[in-house]
Amino acid sequence: MKIKRNVLGLSITTIVFVGLLLAQSPSYIGAKACGLCHKTKSQGRQLPLWEESAHALSRANLRSENAKRMVEDAERNPKCLSCHAPLFEKGPVGEEGVTCEVCHGPGSVYKSIRFMNNPQEAAKNGLILFKDAEAVKSLCLRCHVNAHGFPFDFETAWEKIRHNRPGK
Ligand code: HEC
Ligand code: HEC
Ligand code: HEC
Ligand code: HEC
Repeated sequence: MKIKRNVLGLSITTIVFVGLLLAQSPSYIGAKACGLCHKTKSQGRQLPLWEESAHALSRANLRSENAKRMVEDAERNPKCLSCHAPLFEKGPVGEEGVTCEVCHGPGSVYKSIRFMNNPQEAAKNGLILFKDAEAVKSLCLRCHVNAHGFPFDFETAWEKIRHNRPGK
Protein backbone atom coordinates (compact mmCIF):
# COMPACT_ATOMS: atom_id res chain seq x y z
CA MET A 1 0.00 0.00 0.00
CA LYS A 2 2.74 2.34 1.02
CA ILE A 3 4.54 1.90 -2.30
CA LYS A 4 1.36 2.63 -4.24
CA ARG A 5 0.84 5.86 -2.36
CA ASN A 6 4.38 6.94 -3.16
CA VAL A 7 3.87 6.22 -6.85
CA LEU A 8 0.67 8.24 -6.79
CA GLY A 9 2.44 11.08 -5.01
CA LEU A 10 5.22 11.02 -7.52
CA SER A 11 2.91 11.12 -10.52
CA ILE A 12 0.95 14.04 -9.08
CA THR A 13 4.23 15.87 -8.56
CA THR A 14 5.13 15.10 -12.18
CA ILE A 15 1.78 16.37 -13.48
CA VAL A 16 2.06 19.58 -11.49
CA PHE A 17 5.64 20.07 -12.65
CA VAL A 18 4.85 19.50 -16.34
CA GLY A 19 1.79 21.73 -15.97
CA LEU A 20 3.92 24.55 -14.58
CA LEU A 21 6.42 24.15 -17.41
CA LEU A 22 3.67 24.36 -20.03
CA ALA A 23 1.97 27.28 -18.32
CA GLN A 24 5.19 29.29 -18.13
CA SER A 25 6.68 28.63 -21.52
CA PRO A 26 5.94 31.88 -23.39
CA SER A 27 5.17 32.05 -27.09
CA TYR A 28 5.26 34.77 -29.77
CA ILE A 29 2.24 37.05 -30.27
CA GLY A 30 3.35 39.47 -33.03
CA ALA A 31 3.87 43.24 -33.28
CA LYS A 32 0.18 44.16 -33.61
CA ALA A 33 -0.55 42.55 -30.22
CA CYS A 34 2.21 44.62 -28.56
CA GLY A 35 0.87 47.64 -30.40
CA LEU A 36 -2.43 47.44 -28.54
CA CYS A 37 -0.63 49.24 -25.71
CA HIS A 38 2.45 50.64 -27.46
CA LYS A 39 1.04 52.78 -30.23
CA THR A 40 -0.16 56.20 -29.14
CA LYS A 41 1.92 59.34 -28.79
CA SER A 42 1.68 59.29 -25.01
CA GLN A 43 2.85 55.66 -24.95
CA GLY A 44 5.80 56.41 -27.25
CA ARG A 45 4.52 55.28 -30.70
CA GLN A 46 6.58 52.05 -30.60
CA LEU A 47 4.42 50.20 -33.17
CA PRO A 48 4.34 52.95 -35.84
CA LEU A 49 8.05 53.69 -35.34
CA TRP A 50 8.88 50.04 -35.92
CA GLU A 51 6.53 49.83 -38.93
CA GLU A 52 8.37 52.80 -40.49
CA SER A 53 11.79 51.22 -39.82
CA ALA A 54 13.90 48.99 -42.06
CA HIS A 55 13.45 46.17 -39.53
CA ALA A 56 9.82 45.75 -40.60
CA LEU A 57 10.93 45.23 -44.21
CA SER A 58 13.80 42.87 -43.55
CA ARG A 59 11.90 39.71 -44.47
CA ALA A 60 10.18 41.25 -47.49
CA ASN A 61 13.57 42.42 -48.73
CA LEU A 62 14.65 38.82 -49.10
CA ARG A 63 12.18 38.70 -51.99
CA SER A 64 13.72 41.78 -53.67
CA GLU A 65 15.74 41.94 -56.89
CA ASN A 66 18.85 42.77 -54.86
CA ALA A 67 18.41 39.62 -52.79
CA LYS A 68 17.93 37.52 -55.91
CA ARG A 69 21.22 38.81 -57.25
CA MET A 70 22.95 37.73 -54.02
CA VAL A 71 21.67 34.17 -53.72
CA GLU A 72 19.05 31.91 -55.20
CA ASP A 73 15.90 31.54 -53.08
CA ALA A 74 17.06 33.91 -50.32
CA GLU A 75 13.63 33.70 -48.73
CA ARG A 76 14.24 30.10 -47.75
CA ASN A 77 17.96 30.36 -47.06
CA PRO A 78 18.52 29.80 -43.32
CA LYS A 79 21.65 31.94 -43.41
CA CYS A 80 19.81 35.01 -44.72
CA LEU A 81 16.84 34.30 -42.46
CA SER A 82 19.02 34.12 -39.34
CA CYS A 83 19.45 37.93 -39.49
CA HIS A 84 16.51 39.05 -41.64
CA ALA A 85 13.81 36.98 -39.89
CA PRO A 86 15.24 35.06 -36.92
CA LEU A 87 11.77 33.82 -35.89
CA PHE A 88 11.19 32.19 -39.28
CA GLU A 89 10.40 28.85 -37.68
CA LYS A 90 7.86 30.30 -35.23
CA GLY A 91 4.82 30.67 -37.51
CA PRO A 92 3.25 33.97 -38.68
CA VAL A 93 5.51 36.13 -36.48
CA GLY A 94 8.40 34.99 -38.69
CA GLU A 95 6.91 37.05 -41.53
CA GLU A 96 7.48 40.19 -39.48
CA GLY A 97 11.25 40.13 -39.92
CA VAL A 98 13.18 41.86 -37.14
CA THR A 99 10.09 42.34 -35.02
CA CYS A 100 9.52 43.43 -31.40
CA GLU A 101 9.91 39.98 -29.92
CA VAL A 102 13.23 39.32 -31.68
CA CYS A 103 14.70 41.95 -29.35
CA HIS A 104 12.30 41.80 -26.38
CA GLY A 105 11.57 38.06 -26.15
CA PRO A 106 8.33 36.07 -26.58
CA GLY A 107 5.46 38.06 -25.09
CA SER A 108 2.44 35.80 -24.54
CA VAL A 109 2.89 35.89 -20.75
CA TYR A 110 4.61 39.20 -19.94
CA LYS A 111 2.18 41.22 -22.13
CA SER A 112 -0.35 41.29 -19.28
CA ILE A 113 -0.45 44.57 -17.38
CA ARG A 114 0.56 43.01 -14.07
CA PHE A 115 3.90 41.96 -15.59
CA MET A 116 4.36 44.99 -17.82
CA ASN A 117 4.24 47.30 -14.84
CA ASN A 118 6.85 45.19 -13.06
CA PRO A 119 9.89 44.65 -15.32
CA GLN A 120 11.63 42.28 -12.89
CA GLU A 121 8.61 39.96 -12.85
CA ALA A 122 8.21 40.36 -16.62
CA ALA A 123 11.82 39.27 -17.04
CA LYS A 124 11.00 35.99 -15.29
CA ASN A 125 8.31 35.47 -17.92
CA GLY A 126 10.15 36.07 -21.16
CA LEU A 127 10.97 39.80 -21.30
CA ILE A 128 14.63 40.53 -22.10
CA LEU A 129 15.97 43.46 -20.09
CA PHE A 130 19.01 45.55 -21.09
CA LYS A 131 21.08 46.70 -18.20
CA ASP A 132 22.97 49.45 -20.05
CA ALA A 133 23.92 50.83 -23.48
CA GLU A 134 26.59 48.14 -23.85
CA ALA A 135 23.94 45.44 -23.56
CA VAL A 136 21.84 47.17 -26.21
CA LYS A 137 24.86 47.49 -28.48
CA SER A 138 25.73 43.82 -28.25
CA LEU A 139 22.16 42.97 -29.26
CA CYS A 140 22.59 45.08 -32.40
CA LEU A 141 26.02 43.64 -33.20
CA ARG A 142 24.60 40.12 -33.31
CA CYS A 143 23.31 41.04 -36.78
CA HIS A 144 25.11 44.26 -37.71
CA VAL A 145 28.62 42.87 -37.54
CA ASN A 146 29.59 41.32 -40.87
CA ALA A 147 26.29 42.35 -42.42
CA HIS A 148 27.54 41.72 -45.95
CA GLY A 149 29.69 44.81 -45.97
CA PHE A 150 27.35 47.43 -44.50
CA PRO A 151 29.15 49.58 -41.91
CA PHE A 152 27.52 50.06 -38.51
CA ASP A 153 27.73 52.98 -36.12
CA PHE A 154 25.80 52.20 -32.97
CA GLU A 155 25.00 55.77 -31.87
CA THR A 156 23.63 56.81 -35.28
CA ALA A 157 21.73 53.56 -35.78
CA TRP A 158 20.15 53.66 -32.33
CA GLU A 159 18.95 57.24 -32.95
CA LYS A 160 17.22 55.94 -36.09
CA ILE A 161 15.24 53.22 -34.34
CA ARG A 162 14.92 54.25 -30.70
CA HIS A 163 11.34 54.20 -29.43
CA ASN A 164 11.37 55.40 -25.86
CA ARG A 165 8.41 56.58 -23.87
CA PRO A 166 8.03 60.39 -23.79
CA GLY A 167 10.47 61.87 -21.30
CA LYS A 168 12.75 58.82 -21.16
C1 HEC B 1 -2.02 45.25 -22.24
C2 HEC B 1 -1.09 46.29 -22.59
C3 HEC B 1 0.32 45.88 -23.03
C4 HEC B 1 0.67 44.96 -23.99
C5 HEC B 1 -0.23 44.10 -24.83
C6 HEC B 1 2.11 45.02 -24.07
N1 HEC B 1 2.62 45.95 -23.19
FE1 HEC B 1 4.58 46.41 -22.89
N2 HEC B 1 4.07 47.70 -21.39
C7 HEC B 1 2.77 48.01 -21.03
C8 HEC B 1 2.82 48.97 -19.93
C9 HEC B 1 1.61 49.60 -19.25
C10 HEC B 1 4.17 49.19 -19.62
C11 HEC B 1 4.74 50.09 -18.54
C12 HEC B 1 5.34 51.30 -19.10
C13 HEC B 1 4.42 52.19 -19.85
O1 HEC B 1 3.55 52.82 -19.24
O2 HEC B 1 4.58 52.27 -21.10
C14 HEC B 1 4.93 48.38 -20.58
C15 HEC B 1 6.33 48.34 -20.65
C16 HEC B 1 7.05 47.67 -21.62
C17 HEC B 1 8.50 47.70 -21.74
C18 HEC B 1 9.46 48.43 -20.82
C19 HEC B 1 9.89 47.52 -19.71
C20 HEC B 1 10.86 48.23 -18.78
O3 HEC B 1 12.06 47.98 -18.90
O4 HEC B 1 10.38 49.03 -17.97
C21 HEC B 1 8.83 46.94 -22.83
C22 HEC B 1 10.20 46.66 -23.35
C23 HEC B 1 7.58 46.43 -23.38
N3 HEC B 1 6.53 46.90 -22.62
C24 HEC B 1 7.50 45.64 -24.51
C25 HEC B 1 6.34 45.01 -24.94
C26 HEC B 1 6.30 44.05 -26.03
C27 HEC B 1 7.48 43.63 -26.86
C28 HEC B 1 5.00 43.63 -26.14
C29 HEC B 1 4.43 42.58 -27.06
C30 HEC B 1 5.07 41.26 -26.98
C31 HEC B 1 4.23 44.35 -25.13
N4 HEC B 1 5.08 45.17 -24.43
C32 HEC B 1 2.87 44.22 -24.94
C33 HEC B 1 1.62 47.49 -21.58
C34 HEC B 1 1.55 46.50 -22.53
C1 HEC C 1 24.82 38.86 -40.20
C2 HEC C 1 23.47 39.28 -40.53
C3 HEC C 1 23.00 39.23 -41.96
C4 HEC C 1 23.00 38.14 -42.80
C5 HEC C 1 23.50 36.73 -42.53
C6 HEC C 1 22.38 38.61 -44.03
N1 HEC C 1 22.04 39.92 -43.94
FE1 HEC C 1 21.20 41.07 -45.41
N2 HEC C 1 21.35 42.72 -44.22
C7 HEC C 1 21.81 42.72 -42.92
C8 HEC C 1 21.79 44.07 -42.41
C9 HEC C 1 22.19 44.49 -41.00
C10 HEC C 1 21.33 44.89 -43.44
C11 HEC C 1 21.13 46.39 -43.43
C12 HEC C 1 22.41 47.12 -43.48
C13 HEC C 1 22.24 48.62 -43.52
O1 HEC C 1 21.43 49.13 -44.32
O2 HEC C 1 22.95 49.28 -42.78
C14 HEC C 1 21.04 44.00 -44.58
C15 HEC C 1 20.52 44.42 -45.81
C16 HEC C 1 20.12 43.59 -46.82
C17 HEC C 1 19.40 43.99 -48.00
C18 HEC C 1 18.90 45.38 -48.31
C19 HEC C 1 19.95 46.26 -48.80
C20 HEC C 1 20.14 46.13 -50.25
O3 HEC C 1 21.31 46.08 -50.68
O4 HEC C 1 19.14 46.07 -50.99
C21 HEC C 1 19.21 42.86 -48.76
C22 HEC C 1 18.49 42.73 -50.09
C23 HEC C 1 19.81 41.76 -48.04
N3 HEC C 1 20.36 42.23 -46.87
C24 HEC C 1 19.81 40.44 -48.47
C25 HEC C 1 20.45 39.38 -47.81
C26 HEC C 1 20.55 38.04 -48.33
C27 HEC C 1 20.00 37.58 -49.66
C28 HEC C 1 21.22 37.29 -47.40
C29 HEC C 1 21.65 35.84 -47.47
C30 HEC C 1 22.58 35.52 -48.53
C31 HEC C 1 21.53 38.19 -46.28
N4 HEC C 1 21.06 39.44 -46.58
C32 HEC C 1 22.20 37.80 -45.15
C33 HEC C 1 22.21 41.62 -42.19
C34 HEC C 1 22.41 40.35 -42.68
C1 HEC D 1 18.12 39.90 -35.62
C2 HEC D 1 19.02 40.74 -36.38
C3 HEC D 1 19.07 42.22 -36.07
C4 HEC D 1 19.23 42.84 -34.85
C5 HEC D 1 19.34 42.17 -33.48
C6 HEC D 1 19.28 44.24 -35.10
N1 HEC D 1 19.15 44.50 -36.45
FE1 HEC D 1 19.09 46.31 -37.36
N2 HEC D 1 18.79 45.41 -39.16
C7 HEC D 1 18.75 44.05 -39.37
C8 HEC D 1 18.50 43.79 -40.77
C9 HEC D 1 18.38 42.42 -41.42
C10 HEC D 1 18.38 45.04 -41.39
C11 HEC D 1 18.14 45.31 -42.87
C12 HEC D 1 16.71 45.39 -43.19
C13 HEC D 1 16.53 45.57 -44.69
O1 HEC D 1 16.77 46.68 -45.17
O2 HEC D 1 16.15 44.59 -45.35
C14 HEC D 1 18.57 46.05 -40.34
C15 HEC D 1 18.50 47.42 -40.56
C16 HEC D 1 18.74 48.38 -39.58
C17 HEC D 1 18.74 49.80 -39.81
C18 HEC D 1 18.46 50.47 -41.14
C19 HEC D 1 19.74 50.72 -41.87
C20 HEC D 1 20.04 52.16 -41.86
O3 HEC D 1 21.20 52.51 -41.55
O4 HEC D 1 19.14 52.95 -42.16
C21 HEC D 1 19.04 50.41 -38.60
C22 HEC D 1 19.17 51.90 -38.34
C23 HEC D 1 19.22 49.34 -37.63
N3 HEC D 1 19.03 48.14 -38.26
C24 HEC D 1 19.53 49.55 -36.31
C25 HEC D 1 19.65 48.54 -35.36
C26 HEC D 1 19.97 48.77 -33.96
C27 HEC D 1 20.28 50.12 -33.34
C28 HEC D 1 19.93 47.56 -33.35
C29 HEC D 1 20.14 47.24 -31.89
C30 HEC D 1 19.29 47.96 -30.95
C31 HEC D 1 19.59 46.57 -34.36
N4 HEC D 1 19.45 47.21 -35.56
C32 HEC D 1 19.45 45.20 -34.12
C33 HEC D 1 18.93 43.08 -38.44
C34 HEC D 1 19.04 43.28 -37.07
C1 HEC E 1 16.06 45.84 -32.95
C2 HEC E 1 15.58 45.56 -31.61
C3 HEC E 1 14.24 46.09 -31.17
C4 HEC E 1 13.04 46.02 -31.84
C5 HEC E 1 12.76 45.43 -33.21
C6 HEC E 1 12.06 46.61 -30.96
N1 HEC E 1 12.66 47.05 -29.81
FE1 HEC E 1 11.75 47.93 -28.24
N2 HEC E 1 13.53 48.33 -27.39
C7 HEC E 1 14.74 47.81 -27.83
C8 HEC E 1 15.79 48.28 -26.97
C9 HEC E 1 17.25 47.92 -27.11
C10 HEC E 1 15.17 49.12 -26.00
C11 HEC E 1 15.84 49.97 -24.94
C12 HEC E 1 16.05 49.32 -23.69
C13 HEC E 1 16.64 50.29 -22.70
O1 HEC E 1 16.94 51.46 -23.04
O2 HEC E 1 16.77 49.87 -21.59
C14 HEC E 1 13.74 49.09 -26.28
C15 HEC E 1 12.78 49.74 -25.52
C16 HEC E 1 11.41 49.52 -25.65
C17 HEC E 1 10.40 49.99 -24.73
C18 HEC E 1 10.63 50.78 -23.46
C19 HEC E 1 10.73 52.23 -23.78
C20 HEC E 1 11.08 53.06 -22.57
O3 HEC E 1 11.17 54.28 -22.72
O4 HEC E 1 11.29 52.50 -21.49
C21 HEC E 1 9.17 49.55 -25.20
C22 HEC E 1 7.82 49.81 -24.58
C23 HEC E 1 9.44 48.81 -26.42
N3 HEC E 1 10.81 48.81 -26.66
C24 HEC E 1 8.49 48.20 -27.19
C25 HEC E 1 8.71 47.70 -28.47
C26 HEC E 1 7.66 47.30 -29.38
C27 HEC E 1 6.18 47.29 -29.06
C28 HEC E 1 8.28 46.90 -30.53
C29 HEC E 1 7.66 46.45 -31.83
C30 HEC E 1 6.55 47.24 -32.37
C31 HEC E 1 9.72 47.04 -30.32
N4 HEC E 1 9.93 47.54 -29.07
C32 HEC E 1 10.71 46.72 -31.25
C33 HEC E 1 14.94 47.02 -28.93
C34 HEC E 1 13.98 46.74 -29.90
